[in-house]
Amino acid sequence: MAKNPFIISVIPPEAPFCNRSRELRQLIAYGSAGTNVVVFSPRRFGKTSLVKRVQSNLLKKGMLVLYADFLGVTSIDDVAGRIAKCVYAFIRGNEPLMKKAIRLLTTFRPVLKPSEDGSFAVSVETTGQNIQGIELLDKTLDDLGQFMAQIGPEKIHIVFDEFQEITELKEKRIEGTLRSHIQFHRSSYFFVGSRRHILLNMFNEKSRPFYQSAQLYELKKLPYDDLVTYLIDQFKGGGKRCPEKNADKISLVSQQNPYYAQKLALNVYEVSGKVVHEKDIKEALELMIDNEIFFFQAILQALAPRQIALLRALAVEPSKTILSNRYISRNDLGSIGGVQAALKKLRQLDLVEKDADSRYRLVDPIFSLWLQKL
Ligand SMILES: Nc1ncnc2c1ncn2[C@@H]1O[C@H](COP(=O)(O)OP(=O)(O)O)[C@@H](O)[C@H]1O
Ligand SMILES: [Mg+2]
Repeated sequence: MAKNPFIISVIPPEAPFCNRSRELRQLIAYGSAGTNVVVFSPRRFGKTSLVKRVQSNLLKKGMLVLYADFLGVTSIDDVAGRIAKCVYAFIRGNEPLMKKAIRLLTTFRPVLKPSEDGSFAVSVETTGQNIQGIELLDKTLDDLGQFMAQIGPEKIHIVFDEFQEITELKEKRIEGTLRSHIQFHRSSYFFVGSRRHILLNMFNEKSRPFYQSAQLYELKKLPYDDLVTYLIDQFKGGGKRCPEKNADKISLVSQQNPYYAQKLALNVYEVSGKVVHEKDIKEALELMIDNEIFFFQAILQALAPRQIALLRALAVEPSKTILSNRYISRNDLGSIGGVQAALKKLRQLDLVEKDADSRYRLVDPIFSLWLQKL
């Protein structure tokens, strides 16, 4: 029996990818030209998979590609450490570059830790210079600048994934410090993020250090037809036949969200025989929702009752006029002011967005389905 061809973790650059050819071309061009770009979309739209693919291309063109992820960052020292780490992680195994980096990056040294699979993972520890916080970040960026200058900054591409997470540390000087160095690094930086409001505000608000310092690049959901073809091909590669109308169904239910399309198809693959039937999709969808319940419940737990009420109303009835008396009373949402406040919060959390027809709706199609069933 062939292996399940669907992938629900970040897609490695060699694995089959659905479309994104225009995005790849454009982002590779930006990366080669030293342009700074903000890549944004809701979570699970394929940003990380895409920028990894961009970097794999830039690497083939002879560039040095650094990747730091700021998800779950805990302190300014941690931000600095992750930046130093992305350099060491990339050049591990390259003795001359490693020597250069160790000499130039004076705040952190690399530490190799054996990981479960027998290989070694790179982490860092401070060199004990007794500096911390903003000062440590400042020095680390300064060192990075020196390192880049020696390599040739135009040959370096850097991804800061989930970049908006640095705002969680509630220390305004982080942005200023980062920006004051980055503006002199002539490399291409990609600032990638899923919490669109928070990320875009960093670049759109006049008072913020990163104001207008990068191109904004929105990653959209997958194109419907390409996704259908991709699904059919993947099933075929896995030794199964998925009739077009059923691939259509998967594309529809997932609303071309790449993660849900893969996850649903992965489950369909598990429950189906040689040929995919409609009942398999139904069964797979229930499995998928069951799988996500824990996560959905965690989202609700972090919300106030009013916010949950609005979320449920929007799941059942997306609308342009949620502030109208009719919508409010029909859904028992309380006062206009209350709805406004709840909406603001839900948009900030990127749980709710305006669609192309200016209707408010949930960002996550499966969360929406689950709420409708509650
Ligand atoms: N172009 C694509 N083709 C097929 N599946 C994709 C594609 N891009 C993303 N995916 C799917 O979406 C999931 C989420 O991708 P990821 O890169 O982690 O998104 P993000 O970084 O935006 O949260 C991946 O695990 C994969 O299953
Ligand atoms: Mg990601």
